[in-house]
Amino acid sequence: MTIKAVVFDAYGTLYDVQSVASVTEQAFPGYGEIITQVWRIKQLEYTWLRSLMRRYEDFSDVTRESLAYTLRCLGLKYDKADFAGIMDKYLHLDLYPDALASLAAMRDKKLAILSNGSPDMLGALVKNSGLDRVLDATISIDANKIFKPSPDAYALIESTLHIPPHEVLFISSNPWDACGAKAFGLNVAWIERVTPEAMALACLESETMPPLTMFKILRTQMDEFGVAPDHRIHGLAELPALVSAQRS
Ligand code: LAC
Repeated sequence: MTIKAVVFDAYGTLYDVQSVASVTEQAFPGYGEIITQVWRIKQLEYTWLRSLMRRYEDFSDVTRESLAYTLRCLGLKYDKADFAGIMDKYLHLDLYPDALASLAAMRDKKLAILSNGSPDMLGALVKNSGLDRVLDATISIDANKIFKPSPDAYALIESTLHIPPHEVLFISSNPWDACGAKAFGLNVAWIERVTPEAMALACLESETMPPLTMFKILRTQMDEFGVAPDHRIHGLAELPALVSAQRS
């Protein structure tokens, strides 16, 4: 099989969503970790609920609503400037350290993002991080107004790049996204950044479960959908070798 395009999930895969912890902690000392974890958990939950309700709002609205939920539940008071300051980090998230070199090593393929992010958020993030220099396309699910893992979201890869699913390798560290892409018919590499052994050890060592450990349990371990990704890697740095090994 020949892979013609490598398509990446954005948040959590190329960009570290945990990097918001620096601004959440600065805005609300002592609350940074709990805000960071509840915000991300709720943000994704809202995408799925809005898709089921058929009440689509774009990802910047969902990200704002989930942050408002988080701060309200924690009883934290804030003004517009505090809120905007935290939201702004979504336009400047940290890239995983191996992202740029890994993409640059695969320039012979079409390289793209397929993300839940709205076009404005993704455009700014990609530009601010310099990925605009290596990506051929940044595809937002906003064109079809439904979030991943809807098949209508993954269908945007073929309609945008004109490359069929069997010639696409999709990369995500989000287990539910890897399963959704595989169920749709894409070739999938899942990035397992937290091994089951490390997860079990973290649970064993925690007398009380810190929010980050709870997040890792919920959102970094493979889901039970009876769908397995084709490849399991541990970081973006492993990708160029995997992709070149796919050549027929
Ligand atoms: C994205 C979410 C899933 O980038 O993280 O689409």
